[in-house]
Amino acid sequence: MTSDTDRGGEDLLAFVRKFADHDTFSIEEELGDGYVRLKITEAERRQALQDIRCVEDVVKELVRNARDAGAANVYVTFQKEKGRWRNITVLDDGVGIPESMHRRIFEARVTSKVRDVVQDTFGVHGRGMALFSIKQVADDMRLVRSQEGRGTIMQARIDTAGLPEKKDQSSFPRLEADEDGTPQIAGGPRNVPRVLSEFALESQGLQVFMGSNAEILATLFHHSVEMRKSWSAGEEGMRRPFWFELGNIREGRMLHGFASQELGLNVSERNAFRVLELEIDPLMSIGELLGEVDAVLPAKRADLHRKSHADWSDHLARRLSQDDLSSICASLQAAFAEIGERYYLQAETPVVKRRRNRLIISLGLHEKEDT
Ligand SMILES: Nc1ncnc2c1ncn2[C@@H]1O[C@H](COP(=O)(O)OP(=O)(O)OP(=O)(O)O)[C@@H](O)[C@H]1O
Ligand SMILES: [Mg+2]
Repeated sequence: MTSDTDRGGEDLLAFVRKFADHDTFSIEEELGDGYVRLKITEAERRQALQDIRCVEDVVKELVRNARDAGAANVYVTFQKEKGRWRNITVLDDGVGIPESMHRRIFEARVTSKVRDVVQDTFGVHGRGMALFSIKQVADDMRLVRSQEGRGTIMQARIDTAGLPEKKDQSSFPRLEADEDGTPQIAGGPRNVPRVLSEFALESQGLQVFMGSNAEILATLFHHSVEMRKSWSAGEEGMRRPFWFELGNIREGRMLHGFASQELGLNVSERNAFRVLELEIDPLMSIGELLGEVDAVLPAKRADLHRKSHADWSDHLARRLSQDDLSSICASLQAAFAEIGERYYLQAETPVVKRRRNRLIISLGLHEKEDT
C-alpha cells in the first residue's frame, strides 16, 4: 500500500540510479555470487521500514522476491493460529539463493538486483530492504531452505495484534474486463487474495497458489507426480524443486515427516494420509480461478477447490462425484443384502476410496443378528 509520497521517493531513487555509475555510486561492498551491499541513506532505510505495515505487505514482498527469482510456481500457505498469529510459508521454484548468502539476505541493503532496478505495478524495488524490514516487524522471519536451481522456502510468523491484516481474507477482488477482454481488478478488500490476484494477472507465466498447509501439500504432491512423469519421459533441463521427491512417497508418516522437515509445512499425520489417498484435492491456481469467474460474482477462497478439468485425464477415479460414489455403495449394499441372507451374513456400510485409476471398495461383514 504505497502512498503517492512513497512512490515519489522510489522514483527519485530510480532516477538517480539511472544516471549514476553503479559501481562507484551505489555499491558499498561486493559480496560475491552477484550480491552486493548497497549504499543507502538513512532516509531510505527508514522509508523501507515503513513499507511493511500489514500482513498483506509481507506477502507482497515475499511473492515479489519469488517472482523476481524467475519462479514458474509460487505456493503460499496462509494459516491463522488462535485467531491471532498468522503463519505464512512461501515456496517457489525460482533460481534459489547460494548458501553463502542465506544469512546475509536478512541484513539491510543486501541485494542481487543492483544492476537492473526492477519496476512493477507496485513500484520500483531492489533496495535489499524487504527481508530486513519484515524481520524487524515479524515474530519470526526465516529461510527454511534454499538451494541454487531448487528454489526457496521462506516462512514468516506475524502477531496480527501488532501488524494487522484485513478481516476478510476469503474474498477475491471484483474483476472487470478491459477493451481487450483482459480481466482487471475493479474493487474488493485489499486483502491477501487481492495481492496474489495482482501477481497472477500481471506476471506472465507465474502460477500462484494459496491455501492451508494441508491443501498446499496436496497441491505440491500432485504437481510432483506430474513432474516425475515428465522427468521419466526424459524432459531435458527440468528444474527439480524441493518437493520433487514428494510424489515418490507412499506412506502417511513419511509424508508427514518430509513435509515438516524438508518443506517447513506442519501437517498432521492424518492429513498427510488423506493427501496420499487423494482425499484432499489439489488447488487450482489463482490465475485459473480468475480466468473462470463471472465478473459480477467475486470468487471466494473455497472456489479454489473446484476440480480443474485438467485433473481428469490423470486420475480417472477422480471423475466420479461423491454422490455417484454413494449411489454405487447403496447398490452394492442392496445387492449383498439378498445374497448375505443365504450365509447368515450382514454387510456394513461400504467404504470407497479413489486411487488413481481404481476404486477400492471394502465391505465389512458380520454375522447376521437374529431378529
Ligand atoms: N525467493 C527468493 N529467491 C531467490 N532469491 C531471493 C528470494 N528472496 C530473496 N532473495 C534474494 O535476497 C535478496 C534480498 O531480498 P530483499 O527482498 O530483502 O531485497 P530486494 O528484493 O533485493 O529489494 P527490495 O527491498 O526492494 O525487496 C534479493 O535481492 C535476492 O537476491
Ligand atoms: Mg524484495
